[in-house]
Amino acid sequence: MNVRLKDPAFYLDPHDAYRRLRDEEPVWWDEEAKVWAVSRHADVMAVSRDPKTFCNGKGVLLTDRERGVAATNSVLYLDPPEHQQHRKLVNPGFHPHRLVSLEPRVRELAKQIVDGLPEGEVFDLVEEVAVPLPLLVIADMLGIPGDDRDAFKKWSDLLIEAATEFTEENMTAALELFQYFAAVIEERRGQPGDDMISVLINGEVEGERLTEAELLGFCMTLLVAGNETTRNLISGGTRALAEHPDQLARLVADLDALPVAVDELLRWVTPVMSFARTATCDTQVGDQAVREGDFVLLLYTSANRDERAFGDTADQLDLWRSPNPHVGFGFGEHFCLGANLARMETRVMFDELLRRFPRIELAGEPDRLPSVLMNSLQRLPVVLSS
Ligand code: HEM
Repeated sequence: MNVRLKDPAFYLDPHDAYRRLRDEEPVWWDEEAKVWAVSRHADVMAVSRDPKTFCNGKGVLLTDRERGVAATNSVLYLDPPEHQQHRKLVNPGFHPHRLVSLEPRVRELAKQIVDGLPEGEVFDLVEEVAVPLPLLVIADMLGIPGDDRDAFKKWSDLLIEAATEFTEENMTAALELFQYFAAVIEERRGQPGDDMISVLINGEVEGERLTEAELLGFCMTLLVAGNETTRNLISGGTRALAEHPDQLARLVADLDALPVAVDELLRWVTPVMSFARTATCDTQVGDQAVREGDFVLLLYTSANRDERAFGDTADQLDLWRSPNPHVGFGFGEHFCLGANLARMETRVMFDELLRRFPRIELAGEPDRLPSVLMNSLQRLPVVLSS
């Protein structure tokens, strides 16, 4: 099998290799990465819906196996029953009602961004559009002051880099971010607001307040999870629209279809390419026996192109696809907490962008970030026109 899960270069164009995996060895052992690669949609769903047999606590990143779990205080690494207790604390912040009241602010930010874009000139859509919106929104939700947002972006980017490789720079960034959040938490203890950090400080799990380490873990997770992911959906989604001008034109004429289109862009781009689980007992995935302690990688990118779930148009973009049971936000116990927020931000951003600029053309090769976790563009040169 020409599959190299530990090599960031493999992810540049993995689709043919994934198709072979799905057809020939849907649960395949990667000896180099020491992990079972799960490539079919049905198997990814089955593992995701069974947290008792496939736990998160022993690692969710491909690299967690080698270096140990670094983020034990993140909700993503918790297993039942603690997992739901912690998730409940922040759930209200992501409730659909809350998102409805947040939408005007997101629209205002999106409008400001679109107002600043040049017409008929090459510019980098990642830097000007995809980076600022999610960053400003999550900073608003956490109650982070505007002046600190540049540092915030740097820290968040370096933490994503650390998912692929530890460097001195990204370790220093993690430390700086911890110190920054520790100071914000200290300040909010004295002066609570209606931001998410204040909610977490005052929240209780079984009558107990969260510890300092748990608070810090939560803040880091929300920042990292809420930032780069949505950025990649906006940048990868824009690229997909530019590469499918007929569908783009149809969408511009029918912007009410945006919610459905955003989900298809999620399937197409799959911003988070995989997460892992560990088998807690001897068991099976599909027809394959796996042993207690084995690491199992859920290949969302492959599952989202599985012909068995999406039919013979699985490898085509169809912005009107319905139903669309993609696993871009995962599935089951750990289904993305920010899914509705990410959908809303992306919908509002494209709504503002396409009203103003119905034509998007690529103006050079997109530049991909080397990563084994994120399908991320570092640069996307485009020209917009009306
Ligand atoms: C397009 C944007 C996004 C994508 C593609 C994405 C993807 C994912 C995926 C694949 C998972 C794991 C699901 C699983 O293991 O079953 C996840 C979990 C999570 N996401 Fe997102 N996410 C996005 C945006 C956000 C946003 C905006 C936030 C918050 C501000 C967020 C917060 C989280 C959290 C806290 C978890 C852990 C949930 C848990 O363990 O219970 N995500 N996300």
